[in-house]
Amino acid sequence: MTDPYPILAVEQKGIGTTEEMGSKSKFWHFNPEGEEVYWLFKYPRNNTGEHWAEKIAAEVANQVNVPHARVELAVFEDIKGSSTKSFVSDRQELIHGNQLLSWYVSGYDPEQEYDQSSHTLTNIWSVIDQVFKHHKSKKTAKLRLAEYFVLDALIGNTDRHHENWGILRQRVDNRWKGFVAPTFDHASSLGRELRDSRRDALLSQNRVGDYVGRGRGAVYWTEDDQHGISPLELVRRAVLLYPDVFLPALRKLEKLNDESVKKIVSQIPGDWISETARTFAIALMRYNKKQLLELT
Ligand SMILES: Nc1ncnc2c1ncn2[C@@H]1O[C@H](COP(=O)(O)OP(=O)(O)OP(=O)(O)O)[C@@H](O)[C@H]1O
Ligand SMILES: [Mg+2]
Repeated sequence: MTDPYPILAVEQKGIGTTEEMGSKSKFWHFNPEGEEVYWLFKYPRNNTGEHWAEKIAAEVANQVNVPHARVELAVFEDIKGSSTKSFVSDRQELIHGNQLLSWYVSGYDPEQEYDQSSHTLTNIWSVIDQVFKHHKSKKTAKLRLAEYFVLDALIGNTDRHHENWGILRQRVDNRWKGFVAPTFDHASSLGRELRDSRRDALLSQNRVGDYVGRGRGAVYWTEDDQHGISPLELVRRAVLLYPDVFLPALRKLEKLNDESVKKIVSQIPGDWISETARTFAIALMRYNKKQLLELT
């Protein structure tokens, strides 16, 4: 039996500012480990597993070598949540996707949170092509984002909207130097919103694939679409158009075997997640991984 993940105890005295960006309640606090780094404590929405979904997603990203924000399970005033360590250093600035899209794609509305059908892969690629000068840096940035889209498809993350990715930039010798920020905010994944009775039904009727197929992501395929494409379908289509970046991203999943998935999920303590939710999260990743590896 592997040890459960440690739980970070967030103390009142370390609390800094609240974070206005995003839809959930959260606040920045000082790192209990003593470093001069802020962490972001996030409350899960009621009756969801957003906290364990964040932790499992970060551990899965780690296993497949995709740059990600560190996440720990955390408790504040007896409330279970998650906390993520800031990846933005003092000298850096995080520019979110919506800002970038508004700078580089004509007519893009950065304030439109819902039904933002201009948040397409084509427009995201256009941003990258304009932000980065050289062929090699454009390709590196697209490869990184392709890895995030593949991760989303693996864990069923439906929330990759325009404030859930970005570019980190800093001044170096009077010039801006930028790179795609580590992936963050994976709370909306792994069936975290389902009731156990629904999970049981989907599992016993072998319908995990139906659940995955119905998931609406926050990236649109075309600007005329009524809703976002499922994260799995996004990768299915993208690999045909951009195999140079999506195939290497997909191949990273070969590092993830069933045993490592089970181990990652089993380390969530028993009073944080139900056994049914564990079984469902494992089944969802097994299904998605199979679908994704068939594309390679
Ligand atoms: N590890 C991190 N390091 C630096 N900044 C972060 C980190 N995690 C989140 N942020 C910043 O905080 C913002 C809000 O965090 P996050 O997206 O996790 O919250 P949320 O409420 O779940 O958002 P959403 O509305 O997308 O569900 C992000 O858009 C990002 O700017
Ligand atoms: Mg967010």
